[in-house]
Amino acid sequence: MKIYTPPPDKAITHRALMLAAVADGNTRVCGPSLCEDTLATAACLKKLGVSISASKNRLLVKGLGLGGLKKPRGPLNAGASGTTMRLLAGLLAGQDFDSTITGKGSLLKRPAARVAAPLVLMGAKIRMRGDRAPIHLSGSSLKGINHKLAVPSAQVKSAILLAGLYAAGPTSITERFQTRDHTERLLKHLNARISAAGLNIYLKPGRLKAKDICVPGDISSAAPFIAAACLLKGFKLTVKNVGLNPGRTGLIRILKAMGAKISVSRTHCAPEPAGNITVSSSPLNGIRIRPDEVPAMVDELPLLALSAARASGTTVINGIGELKHKESDRLRATLTLFKSLGLMAKADKDSLVIKGPQTIAGGRAVDTFNDHRIAMTAAVGALLASKPVKIRNPGCVKKSYPAFFKDFNKIFPRQ
Ligand code: S3P
Repeated sequence: MKIYTPPPDKAITHRALMLAAVADGNTRVCGPSLCEDTLATAACLKKLGVSISASKNRLLVKGLGLGGLKKPRGPLNAGASGTTMRLLAGLLAGQDFDSTITGKGSLLKRPAARVAAPLVLMGAKIRMRGDRAPIHLSGSSLKGINHKLAVPSAQVKSAILLAGLYAAGPTSITERFQTRDHTERLLKHLNARISAAGLNIYLKPGRLKAKDICVPGDISSAAPFIAAACLLKGFKLTVKNVGLNPGRTGLIRILKAMGAKISVSRTHCAPEPAGNITVSSSPLNGIRIRPDEVPAMVDELPLLALSAARASGTTVINGIGELKHKESDRLRATLTLFKSLGLMAKADKDSLVIKGPQTIAGGRAVDTFNDHRIAMTAAVGALLASKPVKIRNPGCVKKSYPAFFKDFNKIFPRQ
């Protein structure tokens, strides 16, 4: 059996840094993710006057309190990080200074109105380039809103909650489908007056109290290892200390329902559930996936599609509309990857149908569309392919997991 420890969770690290920045007191973020995206968040916060220093495996954030952020000199650069841009928009909407959030590459092509619209309802003054960044925010006072989330997006939900800290009066949010609740958990951890029941979240504005935050391993980074261990004959893998937020573990639930041998032992990494996952390879069967199951594996859909191609029978994934708004048009990127690997899938606007089992022929170069999740899925495809596969632009994994290929080749060495 092989043992693998994934890198720390990116989504939790972004939130830990932002919330610690506006808490009262100092927070130690223990075991933070240090990838391009989270470093972009740290750099933006530093430009807002926040002191963040590294020691051993920790980041020490000196909280400035809710009213302590400083007007930045020049635009804040979110890089290619959607979470940085959208959550910062929420954090900055209710400040008494103006700011601009910009980015690079795919981020400048991704929709921004989905986050701006609810913030404007709260009273934010926002200018953009149509539906695109840069996002210009003018200092404004906010009011709480009762909001029904139009898209199942944890980033948009989190932006509203961050803005809600600064609003006059409470904010409530109703989700159509449950998305990851890292922000809600962290807010509670830092003494915010927040309650959540099912699809409803209720937040009263107010100050946060600093408290150490532990970051577990990133389940999305571990996902290619888990999928590969399921699919590779005779393999057994234990993934150590990985985050098990129910809003992120959709792939595990679905693979198990497809017949995968996966067992989980639980620990805790305050304020998140965590644990060890043991995966043994086993034959998989096709499955039908409902739209409400998708948000909990939104970043793992390309991997699920690949797993479905190796499963017996038909898999139908419904509710895939959000895929086109990721670092690439991930539906197109997945279909192109399938074609290059010699696989077949059929898609319409909202569903993907894959009939298996199919053989992964390989033998051709594959495109990553500069999308880290596609590069990681391609690595699993290459591992299972009959002929060698060249992955173009593998360096795009730096966005979330700089050491991905080193770790992957160590756990799954080439014969
Ligand atoms: C994220 C939420 C998801 C996910 C992204 C990170 C987050 O995006 O795809 O990689 O940190 O909240 P949406 O909220 O837009 O679905």
